[in-house]
Amino acid sequence: MLSHIDAFARGIIRDAGAVLLRGFRAPDLVVEYKSRTDLVTNIDRESERLIFDALRREFPGHVIIAEEGSRAEEGDDYVWYVDPLDGTNNFAHGIACFCVSIGVYSRREGRMAAGFVYDPFHDELFHALHGSGSFLNGAPIRVSTTDAVDISIVATGFPYNKKETENNNSREFCSVMPEVQGVRRFGSAALDLCSVACGRIDGYWERQLKPWDCAAGAIIAEEAGGRVTRYDGSNFDPEYPEVLATNGRIHERMMALLRV
Ligand code: IPD
Ligand code: CA
Ligand code: CA
Repeated sequence: MLSHIDAFARGIIRDAGAVLLRGFRAPDLVVEYKSRTDLVTNIDRESERLIFDALRREFPGHVIIAEEGSRAEEGDDYVWYVDPLDGTNNFAHGIACFCVSIGVYSRREGRMAAGFVYDPFHDELFHALHGSGSFLNGAPIRVSTTDAVDISIVATGFPYNKKETENNNSREFCSVMPEVQGVRRFGSAALDLCSVACGRIDGYWERQLKPWDCAAGAIIAEEAGGRVTRYDGSNFDPEYPEVLATNGRIHERMMALLRV
């Protein structure tokens, strides 16, 4: 089953990436506001429809949970978490940092089974199957070997409702920021996790995510040798999406800095 999932997902994610690329910086892009700070475009919906319809045909017995509302709720083992466009704000502003993210969770095993993240602008396809390592365009990737936070580059993100809640990452940001070499806010959780996986950054933390934001990236970071947990070090769970992902070496120190 996993090899079937792998072949299918790698094909469909490239097709969805082509939809994103056609819509990127296009004059007829349609932007709607889910809230004042949370956008959705016609391209998010087109990409989701393509993936959802193909998934339904190929795996009629699987559960599908996609960000823009498509659901197939009857199923046994596998759950597909689909973010048809991660990094929508970047996309809508013409900033080239966005991707398609597809994570596959096995209920039977109680863990992620596979993850696929495709950045069509840079033509980078990240993927991982449980127990088989992580790959970027087919070549194995590993996390960085940086072993101290003061020489680490880390990334984070802030929730859309940051003005309405105190739990908006400002305390954590203020705790981490002076201690590290640099903090980045790229605007795509899935790509942040893949950047940990391939060693471009040393760590990433964010809370109030949704499973489609982080399920795929989490297994890609883990299979690349990284450590992926909640802030307190307990097991990552896509349905409780609070994520601290690091190269492993700076994990304990990052946990301590996030204890605020
Ligand atoms: C968002 C991005 C962003 C993260 C937000 C997500 P979207 O997803 O991943 O980096 O900070 O929490 O909601 O809305 O672009 O799919
Ligand atoms: Ca997302
Ligand atoms: Ca999205």
